[in-house]
Amino acid sequence: MTTQFSVDGIELELVRYPKNQESNLQAWDAADEHLIKHLKETEQQSVVTAIINDNFGALTSCLRSIDPAWPLSVETDARTSLLGAQQNLENNRLNSDNIQWLNSREALPTTIELVLMKLPKNLNYFTYQLTRLSQVLPEGTQVLIGAKAKSINKPLLELFARNLGPASASLTWKKTRVITCITDGKARALPNETQWSIPELNLEITNLCNVFAAGKLDIGARIMLDNMPKGNFKSIIDLGCGNGVLGLKAKQVFPEAYIHFVDDSEMAVESARRNWALNKLDTPSLVGEQATFSWDDCLTHLNAGVRPDLILCNPPFHQGEAITDHIAWQMFLQSWRALKNGGILHVVGNRHLAYHVKLQRIFKNCTTVASNGKFVILQAQKISKKAEPHENGESSSATPHPQSSLYGGVKK
Ligand SMILES: C[S@@+](CC[C@H](N)C(=O)[O-])C[C@H]1O[C@@H](n2cnc3c(N)ncnc32)[C@H](O)[C@@H]1O
Repeated sequence: MTTQFSVDGIELELVRYPKNQESNLQAWDAADEHLIKHLKETEQQSVVTAIINDNFGALTSCLRSIDPAWPLSVETDARTSLLGAQQNLENNRLNSDNIQWLNSREALPTTIELVLMKLPKNLNYFTYQLTRLSQVLPEGTQVLIGAKAKSINKPLLELFARNLGPASASLTWKKTRVITCITDGKARALPNETQWSIPELNLEITNLCNVFAAGKLDIGARIMLDNMPKGNFKSIIDLGCGNGVLGLKAKQVFPEAYIHFVDDSEMAVESARRNWALNKLDTPSLVGEQATFSWDDCLTHLNAGVRPDLILCNPPFHQGEAITDHIAWQMFLQSWRALKNGGILHVVGNRHLAYHVKLQRIFKNCTTVASNGKFVILQAQKISKKAEPHENGESSSATPHPQSSLYGGVKK
């Protein structure tokens, strides 16, 4: 894996977030390079620019490397992207002052003169992003989108025409193209969020557009819901919560418990929050807050005082377009650190992912609770907190918890 980014005289060292991870994935792709090459060739001036879906800050770092004062708003739904961009600016000693960091629901400024975007995998989310832009961009604004050439086709160009303005694609370079869309100045209405019911669980679910399993229950989640762990749990984390369905069910089964919902996607966290309210899950006899909703990279900024006795986890096995198990590995490792002694990690996964090997290595125990042809439910218990595993799963002396305030140690 290379970390040396080099395009048209811009030299940067770029890494993914978190920096130390069990993957060899690069922090940028050829579509990032193509966008920067295009800006250089067209001698683009540093006008007020919105950067959208910048995976780990390659575009943000390049623009601040060309002009340290380039006026920027950076929009992303992924916490790891935001943290990655901040990390790469810092590591390359680039100016990070006066960058407006936005999630995908916060209002975009009305002063934008240029937009740089990466095409996301989820086209419903992309349509939502184009619609949002149509509400703030005046007619004639240039929107440049970097994408793999194979993802660009007539229906995609028609999507632009319907939601933002006419678009055309450049020639192919390193199997990518830059799409140029010129806004038509007409504001479109945002698409509605998806609503659906799970009658057998007595749950109503609402999903914002970039949330996993948008209109139906994931089959992995289904087998998890049919096999909830037994116990008298008081503090439960729904790790990688998506719309929150596992944590919502946990509150139904363990009404005395406090539930912590965590996800890398801000839209997921917001969907879980809405679903908690929609299903009126607060237990009336309890006083005070009964759930928290945190936009975070796994448990990286979990308050040291939170010691869950149960963690429910249906881990992702891809990040963007890349198939990877490094996030599952990070989730298991951080679960081991966070759990109280005797606490349980309850995991669902595709059988072929062999999560039992990782769990056995970290927890030194792993039980199969249920399985069908495709999925398996595994349980690992934290038995001792004397020795904590290294990033590679080997035991060492204890390492401290992150000492940040409740999910608060993140710069925004
Ligand atoms: C397989 S989905 C499970 C969603 C939900 N729990 C369910 O069972 O339907 C995995 C979830 O992990 C989230 N995720 C991916 N990377 C993450 C990270 N680094 N930290 C926290 N959550 C992450 C994804 O956004 C996604 O919502």
